[in-house]
Amino acid sequence: MTSFISIYIILGTVCLSLLSAEPEISEYRLVGSTAVLPCQLTSVDTDTPYIMWSTESEIVFERLGVGIYQDEGYEGRVDVPVEELRKGNCSLVLHDLRLKDTGVYYSYLIHYQSPDDFRTELLNRVKLSVFDWGQILQMWAF
Ligand SMILES: *[C@@H]1O[C@H](CO)[C@@H](O)[C@H](O)[C@H]1NC(C)=O
Repeated sequence: MTSFISIYIILGTVCLSLLSAEPEISEYRLVGSTAVLPCQLTSVDTDTPYIMWSTESEIVFERLGVGIYQDEGYEGRVDVPVEELRKGNCSLVLHDLRLKDTGVYYSYLIHYQSPDDFRTELLNRVKLSVFDWGQILQMWAF
């Protein structure tokens, strides 16, 4: 399955977001646990907002109504529950965390008219750090 919106537009929006001075939220989690990356819409003007979460290099998750896209590396582990989204809660739930999930995650509201006419609005940036017990013990040893 391909993403609703091709990857190249992300690069532009991520570059823009890197320039913005918005504070980053940091989340620290253990391997195998669940992270909820916070996101809140200021207003819900359609009952099914079009939400996208990405990293610097790839789209992680998109939800347009009941339709979802999950990147291969996140398949079956990632969601923005639709009942929460309808209340304006665009938080990303990421289960069964892996070390490689470490990174900065960006949430966007997509104002979509057509494939050639849409605008992405950056909502939030969250830095996720995933650790395993080995790393924690190592930090204590030195
Ligand atoms: C937002 O949604 C997440 C994930 O479903 C949930 O864990 C969290 O409690 C919700 N936050 C609020 C303020 O409802």
